Amino acid sequence: MKILVRDVWTKLGGIDVLRGVTLEISSTSSIALIGRNGAGKTTLLRTILGILRPHKGSIIIEKDGEHIQATQMKPYKIARLGIGYVPQGRMIFPDLTVEENLEVAYGSPVPPDVLEWIYTIMPDLKKLRKRLGMYLSGGEQQMLAIARALVRRPKILLLDEPLEGLAPKIVKTITKTLRDIREEGVGLFITEPGNIKRVKPLAEKAYGIDRGEIVYSGNLDRILQDPLARKRIWGL
Ligand SMILES: Nc1ncnc2c1ncn2[C@@H]1O[C@H](COP(=O)(O)OP(=O)(O)O)[C@@H](O)[C@H]1O
Ligand SMILES: [Mg+2]
Repeated sequence: MKILVRDVWTKLGGIDVLRGVTLEISSTSSIALIGRNGAGKTTLLRTILGILRPHKGSIIIEKDGEHIQATQMKPYKIARLGIGYVPQGRMIFPDLTVEENLEVAYGSPVPPDVLEWIYTIMPDLKKLRKRLGMYLSGGEQQMLAIARALVRRPKILLLDEPLEGLAPKIVKTITKTLRDIREEGVGLFITEPGNIKRVKPLAEKAYGIDRGEIVYSGNLDRILQDPLARKRIWGL
Protein backbone atom coordinates (compact mmCIF):
# COMPACT_ATOMS: atom_id res chain seq x y z
CA MET A 1 0.00 0.00 0.00
CA LYS A 2 1.13 3.52 -0.77
CA ILE A 3 0.03 7.06 -0.02
CA LEU A 4 0.78 9.39 -2.92
CA VAL A 5 0.73 13.05 -1.96
CA ARG A 6 0.78 15.25 -5.07
CA ASP A 7 1.23 19.04 -5.04
CA VAL A 8 -0.85 19.48 -1.88
CA TRP A 9 -1.71 22.97 -0.64
CA THR A 10 -3.46 23.40 2.73
CA LYS A 11 -4.50 26.67 4.34
CA LEU A 12 -4.82 27.38 8.08
CA GLY A 13 -6.24 30.69 9.21
CA GLY A 14 -6.12 31.97 5.62
CA ILE A 15 -2.41 31.21 5.20
CA ASP A 16 -0.91 28.51 3.01
CA VAL A 17 0.77 26.25 5.54
CA LEU A 18 1.44 23.49 3.00
CA ARG A 19 2.73 24.79 -0.30
CA GLY A 20 2.83 22.14 -2.97
CA VAL A 21 3.89 19.10 -0.99
CA THR A 22 4.68 16.04 -3.08
CA LEU A 23 5.84 12.82 -1.46
CA GLU A 24 5.25 9.12 -1.17
CA ILE A 25 4.67 6.94 1.89
CA SER A 26 4.70 3.16 1.68
CA SER A 27 3.77 0.16 3.81
CA THR A 28 7.15 -1.36 3.02
CA SER A 29 9.38 1.46 4.18
CA SER A 30 10.18 3.63 7.13
CA ILE A 31 10.50 7.33 6.43
CA ALA A 32 11.34 10.34 8.60
CA LEU A 33 9.87 13.79 7.99
CA ILE A 34 12.34 16.35 9.33
CA GLY A 35 11.35 19.96 9.91
CA ARG A 36 11.56 22.49 12.70
CA ASN A 37 8.57 23.65 14.73
CA GLY A 38 6.01 25.38 12.57
CA ALA A 39 7.29 23.82 9.33
CA GLY A 40 3.96 22.09 8.62
CA LYS A 41 4.57 18.51 9.76
CA THR A 42 1.38 18.13 11.80
CA THR A 43 -0.61 19.92 9.10
CA LEU A 44 0.66 17.42 6.54
CA LEU A 45 -0.35 14.44 8.67
CA ARG A 46 -3.78 15.94 9.35
CA THR A 47 -4.23 16.61 5.64
CA ILE A 48 -3.35 13.02 4.73
CA LEU A 49 -5.83 11.81 7.37
CA GLY A 50 -8.65 13.90 5.91
CA ILE A 51 -8.96 16.04 9.05
CA LEU A 52 -7.89 19.08 6.99
CA ARG A 53 -8.91 19.61 3.37
CA PRO A 54 -6.29 20.76 0.88
CA HIS A 55 -7.48 23.47 -1.53
CA LYS A 56 -5.19 22.17 -4.24
CA GLY A 57 -3.50 18.90 -5.09
CA SER A 58 -4.39 15.30 -4.45
CA ILE A 59 -3.92 12.39 -2.11
CA ILE A 60 -4.14 8.99 -3.73
CA ILE A 61 -4.06 5.73 -1.85
CA GLU A 62 -2.71 2.83 -3.84
CA LYS A 63 -4.04 -0.42 -2.44
CA ASP A 64 -4.31 -3.92 -3.94
CA GLY A 65 -3.53 -2.52 -7.38
CA GLU A 66 -6.27 0.10 -7.12
CA HIS A 67 -5.85 3.87 -7.02
CA ILE A 68 -8.23 5.33 -4.48
CA GLN A 69 -8.93 9.06 -4.59
CA ALA A 70 -8.62 10.08 -0.92
CA THR A 71 -8.44 13.85 -1.25
CA GLN A 72 -12.01 14.58 -0.18
CA MET A 73 -12.59 11.36 1.74
CA LYS A 74 -13.89 11.34 5.32
CA PRO A 75 -11.25 10.66 8.01
CA TYR A 76 -12.85 7.41 9.19
CA LYS A 77 -12.79 6.04 5.65
CA ILE A 78 -9.14 6.95 5.21
CA ALA A 79 -8.32 5.29 8.55
CA ARG A 80 -10.23 2.22 7.43
CA LEU A 81 -8.04 1.88 4.36
CA GLY A 82 -5.24 0.99 6.77
CA ILE A 83 -3.72 4.18 8.08
CA GLY A 84 -3.02 4.53 11.82
CA TYR A 85 -2.23 7.83 13.55
CA VAL A 86 -0.23 8.58 16.68
CA PRO A 87 -0.88 12.27 17.38
CA GLN A 88 1.62 14.71 18.79
CA GLY A 89 1.22 14.92 22.58
CA ARG A 90 -0.25 11.37 22.73
CA MET A 91 -3.84 12.46 23.55
CA ILE A 92 -4.80 9.41 25.56
CA PHE A 93 -7.79 9.46 27.94
CA PRO A 94 -6.44 10.00 31.50
CA ASP A 95 -9.64 8.71 33.19
CA LEU A 96 -9.69 5.43 31.31
CA THR A 97 -7.50 2.39 31.82
CA VAL A 98 -5.03 1.21 29.21
CA GLU A 99 -7.43 -1.41 27.93
CA GLU A 100 -10.39 0.99 27.94
CA ASN A 101 -8.33 3.44 25.88
CA LEU A 102 -7.82 0.66 23.34
CA GLU A 103 -11.54 -0.21 23.38
CA VAL A 104 -12.54 3.37 22.66
CA ALA A 105 -10.16 3.41 19.69
CA TYR A 106 -11.58 0.15 18.38
CA GLY A 107 -15.20 1.11 19.06
CA SER A 108 -15.91 -2.09 21.01
CA PRO A 109 -13.83 -4.63 22.93
CA VAL A 110 -10.64 -5.30 21.00
CA PRO A 111 -10.62 -8.83 19.49
CA PRO A 112 -8.43 -11.15 21.59
CA ASP A 113 -6.08 -11.97 18.71
CA VAL A 114 -5.43 -8.27 18.07
CA LEU A 115 -4.91 -7.62 21.78
CA GLU A 116 -2.50 -10.51 21.95
CA TRP A 117 -0.63 -9.20 18.91
CA ILE A 118 -0.29 -5.78 20.55
CA TYR A 119 0.82 -7.24 23.89
CA THR A 120 3.37 -9.43 22.14
CA ILE A 121 4.92 -6.30 20.67
CA MET A 122 4.51 -4.39 23.98
CA PRO A 123 4.67 -6.85 26.88
CA ASP A 124 5.05 -4.05 29.42
CA LEU A 125 1.72 -2.60 28.40
CA LYS A 126 -0.01 -5.86 29.28
CA LYS A 127 1.15 -5.49 32.87
CA LEU A 128 -0.37 -2.01 32.90
CA ARG A 129 -3.65 -2.91 31.24
CA LYS A 130 -5.80 -2.05 34.27
CA ARG A 131 -3.98 1.20 35.04
CA LEU A 132 -5.56 4.59 34.45
CA GLY A 133 -3.98 6.75 31.76
CA MET A 134 -3.23 9.49 34.27
CA TYR A 135 -0.97 7.16 36.27
CA LEU A 136 1.20 6.24 33.30
CA SER A 137 4.66 7.74 32.79
CA GLY A 138 5.37 9.74 29.63
CA GLY A 139 6.95 6.70 27.98
CA GLU A 140 4.06 4.45 28.96
CA GLN A 141 1.58 6.97 27.58
CA GLN A 142 3.48 7.00 24.31
CA MET A 143 3.36 3.18 24.22
CA LEU A 144 -0.39 3.34 24.75
CA ALA A 145 -0.78 5.97 22.02
CA ILE A 146 1.08 3.66 19.64
CA ALA A 147 -0.94 0.62 20.76
CA ARG A 148 -4.16 2.54 20.18
CA ALA A 149 -3.11 3.21 16.59
CA LEU A 150 -2.57 -0.53 16.08
CA VAL A 151 -6.04 -1.81 17.05
CA ARG A 152 -7.24 -1.80 13.44
CA ARG A 153 -4.05 -3.46 12.23
CA PRO A 154 -2.96 -0.62 9.94
CA LYS A 155 -0.61 -1.05 6.98
CA ILE A 156 0.92 2.38 7.52
CA LEU A 157 1.45 4.26 10.78
CA LEU A 158 1.82 8.04 10.85
CA LEU A 159 3.62 9.13 14.02
CA ASP A 160 3.82 12.78 15.04
CA GLU A 161 7.02 13.42 17.02
CA PRO A 162 6.84 10.12 18.94
CA LEU A 163 10.26 10.61 20.55
CA GLU A 164 9.77 14.18 21.71
CA GLY A 165 9.98 15.01 25.42
CA LEU A 166 11.15 11.56 26.49
CA ALA A 167 14.26 10.60 28.47
CA PRO A 168 17.03 8.88 26.44
CA LYS A 169 16.32 5.51 28.04
CA ILE A 170 12.64 5.75 27.10
CA VAL A 171 13.56 6.87 23.57
CA LYS A 172 15.47 3.59 23.29
CA THR A 173 12.46 1.57 24.40
CA ILE A 174 10.06 3.31 22.02
CA THR A 175 12.60 2.96 19.21
CA LYS A 176 12.78 -0.78 19.76
CA THR A 177 8.99 -1.04 19.77
CA LEU A 178 8.73 0.90 16.52
CA ARG A 179 11.35 -1.34 14.93
CA ASP A 180 9.34 -4.38 16.02
CA ILE A 181 6.18 -2.89 14.50
CA ARG A 182 8.11 -2.34 11.29
CA GLU A 183 9.17 -6.00 11.39
CA GLU A 184 5.49 -6.88 11.57
CA GLY A 185 5.10 -5.37 8.11
CA VAL A 186 3.78 -1.93 9.01
CA GLY A 187 5.19 1.08 7.15
CA LEU A 188 6.25 4.02 9.30
CA PHE A 189 6.17 7.75 8.65
CA ILE A 190 7.74 9.57 11.58
CA THR A 191 7.99 13.33 12.07
CA GLU A 192 11.01 14.71 13.89
CA PRO A 193 11.87 18.35 14.67
CA GLY A 194 15.59 18.09 13.96
CA ASN A 195 17.46 15.35 15.77
CA ILE A 196 18.73 13.11 12.97
CA LYS A 197 20.59 10.82 15.34
CA ARG A 198 17.35 9.97 17.09
CA VAL A 199 15.55 8.79 13.94
CA LYS A 200 18.55 7.05 12.36
CA PRO A 201 17.74 3.66 13.89
CA LEU A 202 14.17 4.02 12.61
CA ALA A 203 14.22 5.32 9.06
CA GLU A 204 16.12 4.73 5.84
CA LYS A 205 14.65 7.56 3.85
CA ALA A 206 13.88 11.15 4.75
CA TYR A 207 11.96 14.14 3.58
CA GLY A 208 12.85 17.61 4.78
CA ILE A 209 10.12 20.22 5.17
CA ASP A 210 10.39 23.96 5.73
CA ARG A 211 7.60 26.54 5.55
CA GLY A 212 5.31 24.02 3.95
CA GLU A 213 7.73 23.08 1.19
CA ILE A 214 9.61 19.84 0.71
CA VAL A 215 13.27 20.87 0.71
CA TYR A 216 14.84 17.42 0.78
CA SER A 217 14.03 13.95 -0.45
CA GLY A 218 16.52 11.14 -0.21
CA ASN A 219 18.62 9.02 2.07
CA LEU A 220 18.35 9.99 5.75
CA ASP A 221 22.11 9.54 6.09
CA ARG A 222 22.77 12.28 3.56
CA ILE A 223 20.36 14.99 4.70
CA LEU A 224 23.03 16.74 6.76
CA GLN A 225 25.28 16.99 3.71
CA ASP A 226 22.60 18.60 1.57
CA PRO A 227 23.17 22.37 1.32
CA LEU A 228 19.49 23.30 0.87
CA ALA A 229 18.32 21.08 3.75
CA ARG A 230 21.08 22.38 6.00
CA LYS A 231 20.15 25.97 5.27
CA ARG A 232 16.37 25.62 5.44
CA ILE A 233 16.05 23.16 8.33
CA TRP A 234 19.01 23.98 10.55
CA GLY A 235 19.99 27.48 9.36
CA LEU A 236 23.55 26.27 8.71
N1 LIG B 1 -5.17 26.43 13.69
C1 LIG B 1 -4.23 27.17 13.09
N2 LIG B 1 -4.54 28.38 12.55
C2 LIG B 1 -3.60 29.12 11.93
N3 LIG B 1 -2.32 28.75 11.80
C3 LIG B 1 -1.95 27.58 12.33
C4 LIG B 1 -2.88 26.73 13.00
N4 LIG B 1 -2.21 25.63 13.41
C5 LIG B 1 -0.93 25.77 13.01
N5 LIG B 1 -0.76 26.95 12.37
C6 LIG B 1 0.48 27.44 11.77
O1 LIG B 1 0.82 26.57 10.70
C7 LIG B 1 2.22 26.38 10.63
C8 LIG B 1 2.55 24.92 10.64
O2 LIG B 1 2.11 24.33 11.85
P1 LIG B 1 2.29 22.78 12.15
O3 LIG B 1 1.80 21.99 11.01
O4 LIG B 1 1.70 22.55 13.47
O5 LIG B 1 3.89 22.67 12.21
P2 LIG B 1 4.81 21.55 12.88
O6 LIG B 1 3.97 20.37 13.20
O7 LIG B 1 5.87 21.27 11.85
O8 LIG B 1 5.40 22.17 14.10
C9 LIG B 1 2.80 27.17 11.80
O9 LIG B 1 3.28 28.38 11.30
C10 LIG B 1 1.63 27.38 12.73
O10 LIG B 1 1.79 28.59 13.42
MG1 LIG C 1 3.61 19.44 14.96
